[in-house]
Amino acid sequence: MTRKPVLASRFAAVAARDAETEAFAHDVTAGLSNTPKRIPPKYFYDSEGSRLFEEITQTPEYYPTRSEHEILRLQAGAIVQHFPTGAALVEFGSGACIKVRFLLDAARKLKAYVPVDISGDFLAAEAAALRKDYPNLAILPVAADFMKPFALPDAVSGLPKIGFFPGSTIGNFEPHEACTFLRHAGTILGRGAVMVVGVDLIKDEAVLNAAYNDRAGVTARFNLNVLRRINRELGGNFKLAGFEHHAFYNRERKRVEMHLASRLRQKVTIAGSTFEFRAGETIHTENSYKYTPESFAALARGAGWSLLDNWTDAKGNFAVCALVLPALSDR
Ligand code: AVJ
Repeated sequence: MTRKPVLASRFAAVAARDAETEAFAHDVTAGLSNTPKRIPPKYFYDSEGSRLFEEITQTPEYYPTRSEHEILRLQAGAIVQHFPTGAALVEFGSGACIKVRFLLDAARKLKAYVPVDISGDFLAAEAAALRKDYPNLAILPVAADFMKPFALPDAVSGLPKIGFFPGSTIGNFEPHEACTFLRHAGTILGRGAVMVVGVDLIKDEAVLNAAYNDRAGVTARFNLNVLRRINRELGGNFKLAGFEHHAFYNRERKRVEMHLASRLRQKVTIAGSTFEFRAGETIHTENSYKYTPESFAALARGAGWSLLDNWTDAKGNFAVCALVLPALSDR
């Protein structure tokens, strides 16, 4: 194996960090210049934000993670029935590679697992742990932003593909962006591919509102943390006490919205630019779209995928959907 000199790779890491900060500064300045003001939800996840999200999943009100685990635990056998033998499983945004273990345990005839994640360091550590637990599986991590085109490792080029996109991350996209993502995933995986997607379902509004307004206030801290991140990384002067967490289900648009509402009239400066807030004015920080299995099937259909099967938890809170990208001959 050839290794880059230590110094060169350190420069590369610093350059990548600079480019990330630049993009962050650009997106925040553009978002706060917009009416209504907004910040993209991907910026929640600095190390404190990732920790707070894990803490959200432990609150009694936040059901999606527990519901999806229940489905994967009880239905893994049924899900992997749709997997062709000798396939490569590609996970989009693999994080800690926890959920995939349900599928890897059930699908004994997989050839390879390709976790794709933007955080390269984390990815290498997770891959090492997986190699120990699945010695017969080729673990081939790819450090990439899965929203952009990326190449799969040569070693999987001849294999049938399965995509995995759990966690209802797809709910953070506008429906047209979700459609674009699914089309892009289809291009990477190829005709005949199967894709397993976690989707949060439309349900009783009280359940949805509680899930994003937990009593312990963890979701509020998660939402406010993005302002702390802007202060630290972009030299902002947000006073966190001047903003309040708002989250509610928008029935017309079938999404939970999160906002940070200014408690008073105030000005905030970030990297030399000043932004004015009216009392009560909000920064829209996240949408979390909810679907029915039918509305999700219709969205996927628009990207060329057909719904093969879907499973829900006992309460009907969440769905795991299996899609197939038909070969040209059987469309
Ligand atoms: C990680 C995008 C699935 O939308 O429920 C949790 C993020 N935001 N609580 C979601 C989140 C507030 C979460 N996703």
